[in-house]
Amino acid sequence: MMLRPSFNDSPVNPEPAVMDRSSFALRLPVFAAPMFLISGPALVLAACKAGIVGAFPTPNARPVEMLDSWMREITEGLARARDEQPASTIGPWCANLVTHSSNTRLPEDLELVAKYKPPIVVTALGSPKPAIDIVHGYGGKVFADVISIHLARKAVAAGADGLACVSAGAGGHTGFLSPFAFVSAVREFFDGYVVTGGGISDGWGVAGAIASGADFVYMGTRFIPVAESMASDAYKQMVVDSNIDDLVVSAGITGTPASWLKASLRANGLDPDNMPSRPNGSTTAASRLPRGAGRTCGPRGRAWARSGRSRRWLPWWTGWPPNTRRPRALRGADAHAGDGMTGAPISMEALDLPSCHRPPTST
Ligand SMILES: Cc1cc2nc3c(=O)[nH]c(=O)nc-3n(C[C@H](O)[C@H](O)[C@H](O)COP(=O)(O)O)c2cc1C
Repeated sequence: MMLRPSFNDSPVNPEPAVMDRSSFALRLPVFAAPMFLISGPALVLAACKAGIVGAFPTPNARPVEMLDSWMREITEGLARARDEQPASTIGPWCANLVTHSSNTRLPEDLELVAKYKPPIVVTALGSPKPAIDIVHGYGGKVFADVISIHLARKAVAAGADGLACVSAGAGGHTGFLSPFAFVSAVREFFDGYVVTGGGISDGWGVAGAIASGADFVYMGTRFIPVAESMASDAYKQMVVDSNIDDLVVSAGITGTPASWLKASLRANGLDPDNMPSRPNGSTTAASRLPRGAGRTCGPRGRAWARSGRSRRWLPWWTGWPPNTRRPRALRGADAHAGDGMTGAPISMEALDLPSCHRPPTST
């Protein structure tokens, strides 16, 4: 049987939806995607209070005691927000775990997951299996981060409730597939939650992703320049000042293809037009990065990052730059990343999903 997503009243889809997607109340079907060295409690809380999903990678909190305090801050902050604004839609928070066998901190991270109960856990770099019983035990959902149909099938077989289909154009370690082809192919065998991301930074992109069959959109780069991100001001400004032509995809830094800001590569002594195909000893910054680091830096990358050196000289990465001029669906008077408002706080007042479906007005 060919499963289609949530177009229940479509003539081509007489099947009822298998899954109750109403379990997540959101103002917009968007995740502020987990970003290494960028997402922390402030960004998670701001995103959730704005009515979207707020996510962060647990390795951003080092040592593990810091993770305990971040998770406490998030759960207490959200409880306070619910008390203070009972009528507001507060989005769920999400922890992003590295489930690769070489992540020696995984058992401790999972203990904290069991303690603080993030409604969504996204697993990366390994099977979602280690998280499933624990997260299901308190009623949470496990999504697996995947970049291919092969990995998507494996994650579904392992029991994932959802897939984060990271597609071409994604910030950080990127995917390769068109989000439309990826989501469509996944929907052939999976009727659970589907997130897709990669170069989506406005309402037109959100509307397109949802129309293609996804339930949610991952937006990462869009949130790098906001006030609540942990990026430096110079990094935020570079993201705002950049456009699509200022990006290059290269495996020359971490060993895995990633989207890099050309200006930051230059600032680190690299030539964006002549990047090595893999990290090598002759390139200044690249030579100091862990060879073979996997997607989202990989366990070895994280070990290196734990050393603290990453903050000093890692070139900045990003996906589709938020200042790319696109139709104005979700752009509005309120300050949010991408309108040239570096460091502005997150506000979703302008993010009115139905407006996505209006055709662009020609002026
Ligand atoms: C600076 C940066 C760091 C990232 N770090 C992580 C990470 O630690 N874990 C992860 O699963 N994805 C990570 N990602 C990928 C995002 O979660 C998301 O897939 C991506 O940003 C979506 O593409 P976009 O940036 O074009 O919106 C990172 C992305 C960026 C830009």
